[in-house]
Amino acid sequence: MEFSKDILRYEEQVIFKLRSLYKDFDYTPYRMSRFEEYELYAANKAFLPSGEILTFTGAGGKLMALRPDVTLSIVKYTKDDTGLTKLYYNENVYRSDGVDFKEQMQVGLECIGEIEVNLIGEVLLLAKLSLETLNKNYRLDISHMGFLGGLLKSEVMTSAQEKEIINCVSEKNTSELKVLCELYDFPTEFTENLVLLSTLYGNFKEIESDLRKISINEDTDNALLELDELNNILYGLGIEKGINIDFSIVNDISYYNGIIFQGYIENTPSRVLSGGRYDELLRKFGKKSNAIGFAVYLDNINISNNENTQAGIVNIALPKGRLGEKAYAMFEAAGYGCPEIHEESRKLVFENHDTGVRYFWVKPSDVAKYVERGAADIGVVGKDILMEYSPDVYELLDLNIGKCSICVAAEVGFVPADNEKTLRIATKFPNIARKYYQKQGREIDIIQLNGSIELAPLLGLSDVIVDIIETGKTLQENKMAPIEAIVDISARLISNKTSYKFNKMKIDELCEKIAEIKVAQSAERHGNRND
Ligand code: PRP
Repeated sequence: MEFSKDILRYEEQVIFKLRSLYKDFDYTPYRMSRFEEYELYAANKAFLPSGEILTFTGAGGKLMALRPDVTLSIVKYTKDDTGLTKLYYNENVYRSDGVDFKEQMQVGLECIGEIEVNLIGEVLLLAKLSLETLNKNYRLDISHMGFLGGLLKSEVMTSAQEKEIINCVSEKNTSELKVLCELYDFPTEFTENLVLLSTLYGNFKEIESDLRKISINEDTDNALLELDELNNILYGLGIEKGINIDFSIVNDISYYNGIIFQGYIENTPSRVLSGGRYDELLRKFGKKSNAIGFAVYLDNINISNNENTQAGIVNIALPKGRLGEKAYAMFEAAGYGCPEIHEESRKLVFENHDTGVRYFWVKPSDVAKYVERGAADIGVVGKDILMEYSPDVYELLDLNIGKCSICVAAEVGFVPADNEKTLRIATKFPNIARKYYQKQGREIDIIQLNGSIELAPLLGLSDVIVDIIETGKTLQENKMAPIEAIVDISARLISNKTSYKFNKMKIDELCEKIAEIKVAQSAERHGNRND
């Protein structure tokens, strides 16, 4: 069906095309209310994207919420015994992005009932066709929750440790993964399997032999079997080549099982489609049916052309200052130099078409934002910033530079008050401080400052500070001392997820070369120490 561009906006044209696509495959339209009792969301917080929920008091004093999610309502109202239900929706959801609430438009579909592998193939075909409707240049990547779940089951760990490991896999953060596995004393083979799983990418046939090598129990074998069966179905549909497997796609393990998937399109920095098998959610509602579905996030789509996305050029955000200069030296040594950068000037953008790079000097605390939102493809940022803001990026490499630690510090001679008294903490890192004291069960009052944190206890504004210590000089010269170490940090190379998917070879090659420089520099430092 053709629509006049003069009458329908881009999103409206897309919505019409998607609705007619789903209708052609016998999905029926589903309408629902904009609000639900808050209890529905409170009981299933882990299923929802993180963030606040917009609530209001309904008639009779009941706490109500503007829906942050569509699937929960569909599952709540769908009958369990009606065979297979196939439906599609076009609804708005109300979500917080950490700063404010946003109304977001979603189009999606759900299948509830008996889910056979043929049906999973149909859902993936529709996901692929949905992406094609948005942009001819897209990526549809799938994962299987059973594989990671099976590997994790093979070692005894707390749920907090499991969460940390899953987080590393989702960020392709192999350096941190190795550190954690060593810290928790997991066997080398387990670590190696997880590292391989985080980095594997390709269609089933390309990665099958690696997957077979690391399949260690019934759960991983079953996941492998289902991926194999699905690959045959996709082959039959002629779409097996366009769908890659990426195990860094993970969803909450207590709601999702089996196949999960995400879709990305060129020039749009975050994912535009997300879905998967969520039988466990149905169990939480006491239902026997199984389910699979996906949503297309229409508000994420960038319809204007980003001028930075020039084919062949990798955009790199460097933190202004000493750390950025050290990082640039590594890029230069790895063959990604840009001589103009050494010239005395106030320019912020430098590019070298010969080496295919464009550098931006960015305020250190802003690097992650530039990368997360796709203004830069990759960037160099302190682990402190990543821990504080948790941006949705891949953390590809620990550069081993900008090493320092985050500590609790106080005036020399400070005597900690008993646990009864609220501890006043001045910091640039409220989230890190809050998490640290939450673990200790200590009541705190956070005073967020932007710099010169050491002044706060000296002037009686706080009892302690949570801050970065590099040489320790600032503390010393202000008659202060560290009292507890929270975490060691260093600079990391991060990548925007869409950029990585569209420039994987280039970014992987760059990372490999930088990793070689890192090893050479570290050997040189050791050599110097031994001289
Ligand atoms: C950081 C940090 C400490 C200081 C620690 O401040 O907040 O104040 O460095 O370094 P040191 O252990 O080597 O003395 P930064 O220089 O970023 O300035 P700021 O106080 O304006 O944040």
